[in-house]
Amino acid sequence: MPYDRIFSTLTFRNLTVKNRIFRSNVAGRFDNYDGTGTQARINWEAKFARGGVGAIISSFVPVHPRGRILPNYATIVSDDRIPFWRALGKVVHEHDCKYILQLSHGGRQRDIPTIDYPVGLSSTARQDPLHGFECEAMTTAQIKESIQAFAEGARRAREAGLDGVELHGANGYLITQFLSSGINDRTDEYGGVLANRARFVREIVQAIRARVGRDFHLQMKISATEFNNALLPEEPPGNTLQDSLEVCKWLVDDGVDAIHVSSGSAFPHPKNPPGDLPVDELRKTYDSLISSGSLALRNYLLFMGRFTSALFKERWETARGPRDRIEGINLPDARAIKQAVGTIPVLCTGGFQTAAIIETAIARGDCDAVSIARPLIANNDLVQQFERGIGRPANPCTYCNKCLVNAPENPLGCYEETRFPSRDAMVQEILSVYRPQTFQ
Ligand SMILES: Cc1cc2nc3c(=O)[nH]c(=O)nc-3n(C[C@H](O)[C@H](O)[C@H](O)COP(=O)(O)O)c2cc1C
Ligand code: SF4
Repeated sequence: MPYDRIFSTLTFRNLTVKNRIFRSNVAGRFDNYDGTGTQARINWEAKFARGGVGAIISSFVPVHPRGRILPNYATIVSDDRIPFWRALGKVVHEHDCKYILQLSHGGRQRDIPTIDYPVGLSSTARQDPLHGFECEAMTTAQIKESIQAFAEGARRAREAGLDGVELHGANGYLITQFLSSGINDRTDEYGGVLANRARFVREIVQAIRARVGRDFHLQMKISATEFNNALLPEEPPGNTLQDSLEVCKWLVDDGVDAIHVSSGSAFPHPKNPPGDLPVDELRKTYDSLISSGSLALRNYLLFMGRFTSALFKERWETARGPRDRIEGINLPDARAIKQAVGTIPVLCTGGFQTAAIIETAIARGDCDAVSIARPLIANNDLVQQFERGIGRPANPCTYCNKCLVNAPENPLGCYEETRFPSRDAMVQEILSVYRPQTFQ
């Protein structure tokens, strides 16, 4: 086997995975408006299981109806959702692939609020600074209700026969909104010093452990460094790596089994997913957000202007950092977290698609496994290519981020036309997720 570290098993406290490549979370609008799941989502996940990844970490799965960020994402808000997740898990398991469900709550960060809850909840009453989505600061009763929703979500994932859960504690969603010194402006026991800001996520972990016990896999995705002022210098910088090291140690004490390292206090963020800002493509889809946020029309006009959009693109890509550092962008933070938490595995996300880089990262002890999103969207069989000794795909992901900016409006898939023989071939590949059509 050419890449023996990638193809060695990884053992967590409650879970063993056949190799070191995890499909990272990728949200797409595959489901019904009310959050019930569809065959298209099963087809989507089956593509990656068939392609050889050791485990799939699901996309954003809301634990509470008020935590939704877009319509058409399958939720885990009630027991009647369990059969769908069981059916999905069964298909994934047929390929000796594990399935970890991402328990999520968007808080104030939403792309298209649904008709049932137009106003988001957050640690703060301040609207998000990029799109201007309205929100209310959560009351203590709402905080407790959300904590229980996470615990119930974990219980339902376990009853569905899935292999574990991940807390979406990264990228600006509700858990980040509590953790972040750049967002959380509360004066009660859930705001202020780091120990208070971490109270929300720690209580979630404790509630999950109380609900599902110690023998069900639970991991935390965290933005190790938030770079909260990356685009808007007037904003505070947010949590530093040092803050996150402390949070990770507390979470290990509370019973978390792994840490998944990401970055950025918002989504998207120049550093996540790290790549280009495809403004030409963004112009076609950002209109769907205009009615949602008080700043969205301003942004749309900015993206429509030739000079303003070029300026914004330049600002975004400067904040991202050098293009040749995209692959493994979060490895320095992962290494620091691994040293701090020692006893539990650390996963790292961000740009991976070269086998030698992944091998070296694992060998050096920077992380125990990597999670991959866009390069697996581009090449569903990336792991099989590595297995055959192909160290980097011949037709790689270009990090153009066209998949990302299409996702709020169009089916998830690779939108980089240069990767396909024709536009029609690209469209056919994107639409292949709807085949087969029947719920089995
Ligand atoms: C279209 C798209 C959707 C995503 N959805 C999620 C999500 O639902 N939850 C999450 O934690 N991260 C999400 N991410 C971030 C990825 O999981 C991943 O961490 C990031 O893209 C960096 O990895 P990559 O360079 O391999 O793409 C998404 C990324 C993309 C491009
Ligand atoms: S559109 Fe395709 S090539 Fe571009 S970032 Fe997404 S997966 Fe990669």
